[in-house]
Amino acid sequence: MSDINSNLDKSAKQVFLVFGGNGDLAMRKLLPALYYLEKENLLDHVDRIVGLSKTFISDKDYCEKVLENFDRFLDKNEFEEQVWQRFKIKLGYISIDLSMDTAFESLVEKKAIFKHHSVLSYLALDPIYFGSACQALHLANLIDDQARVVLEKPIGTDLQSSIKVNETVAHYFSESQVFRIDHYLGKETVQNLLALRFGNFILEPLWKNSGIDNVQITASETVGVGNRWNFYHNAGAMRDMVQNHLLQLLCLVAMEVPLNFDPKDVRDEKLKVLKSLRKITANDVYEHTVRGQYEGGSVNGEMVSGYEEEGTHPSQTETFVAIRAHIDNWRWRGVPFYLRTGKRLAKRYSEIVIQFKSVPHSIFYQENEPQDLQPNKLVIRLQPDDGIELTLMNKVPSLNGGPMVLGQQSLKLDFSSVEKSRPIDAYERLLLDFINDNQTLFVRRDEVEAAWNWVDPIINAWKQSSVPAKKYTAGSFGPASSLALPLKDGFEWHE
Ligand code: BG6
Repeated sequence: MSDINSNLDKSAKQVFLVFGGNGDLAMRKLLPALYYLEKENLLDHVDRIVGLSKTFISDKDYCEKVLENFDRFLDKNEFEEQVWQRFKIKLGYISIDLSMDTAFESLVEKKAIFKHHSVLSYLALDPIYFGSACQALHLANLIDDQARVVLEKPIGTDLQSSIKVNETVAHYFSESQVFRIDHYLGKETVQNLLALRFGNFILEPLWKNSGIDNVQITASETVGVGNRWNFYHNAGAMRDMVQNHLLQLLCLVAMEVPLNFDPKDVRDEKLKVLKSLRKITANDVYEHTVRGQYEGGSVNGEMVSGYEEEGTHPSQTETFVAIRAHIDNWRWRGVPFYLRTGKRLAKRYSEIVIQFKSVPHSIFYQENEPQDLQPNKLVIRLQPDDGIELTLMNKVPSLNGGPMVLGQQSLKLDFSSVEKSRPIDAYERLLLDFINDNQTLFVRRDEVEAAWNWVDPIINAWKQSSVPAKKYTAGSFGPASSLALPLKDGFEWHE
């Protein structure tokens, strides 16, 4: 297939296909995101939005289901009848059974929808169906140079299976047509991290091992696995969160400045970071990682069950992971990157904390002892209350004639005060980029594979060892040993 970027006809009309159109992701995120784009008049070229799944329902019933779900998942006061009427005209449904070789016939039957349109497909499916979906599109003759496809994560369950998935898709689409989504890259603050690093000079001279002591990346959730137990049992936090979201954040913190802010240059730099991650082996896996699983407890005042009680059988699957990672290159040699994520924790928040070096010597004394000066921290808060905060040591206001006393204070940049009234959801931003054929915030095949290459030995080492996942009480901060992970290096998690 030829490169589509060179000859994309920007005026062409587009059909947006949502495979898995009846599923949770479509109802909760994708269709609301498309509705918001319609509301902002950003879907002029997309004149059909079609949900696809196995269930037999009519277009009318599908529209009703989508409307019911908008009631649950659109932000309050965002629904407008006029916008819905515009959206509804575009909305349709195709029943398709991807387990059948004849699946493509369901598309052919609706060929009128596709006439003179390029086809944008979102595969919100289990990756075992990616091949069948691509094949159906191919056999229905819907893949041309302007067709594009989004692959929802996880891409495989390990390196080998991800290579297989990627190869199957590559049989039908060229790499420039494939958009591997990681919704963390669509979050406003994550993009702001790039602006902060590469749109300002002030941090750059410090942004390396001589200026930074450690980096902490936390994605803490209060939700449990809910109705995804069967998926989660085979995935665990490592495959569900670390292999993709947390490693992508690590890449954005650690990458060198790209030549340009374009897909190739940005992704080339992220790839170098992934390739520089020091391998964690079976011998040192418990020195660098902690895996845990929640037991029943209380979260936000509500009693909740443990992970195993929610499922159908005993499971060693981890619902919590903490890792000490190292990047073996000039910039980051010796700087630990602590990653942690878990479900049913005390608070919902995601953040990146850059802890700078301490001053080499304190000149401020109190009762003949040097005052304890806290190192500066840059806290990049992804959610909730997205923003950036820089902690500084500052004089505590007083006029007592005694020694000058210092305390920690913050400079804050609160994005909610500069944002539009409604925060933009990550999917909204990424779907728009997909429609506009911009791959910068999507993940390239070699990145996915490099991430698996680092993650696989850790998962295998856990599997081979007889050490069970450490239990933690729902509503806590995770297993106690995860708190100890940075302590071994003389650091503490930022709370
Ligand atoms: C998804 C994971 O990719 O990200 C979920 O599959 C997780 O398990 C979710 O809950 C977290 O996303 P967010 O945007 O709520 O942090």
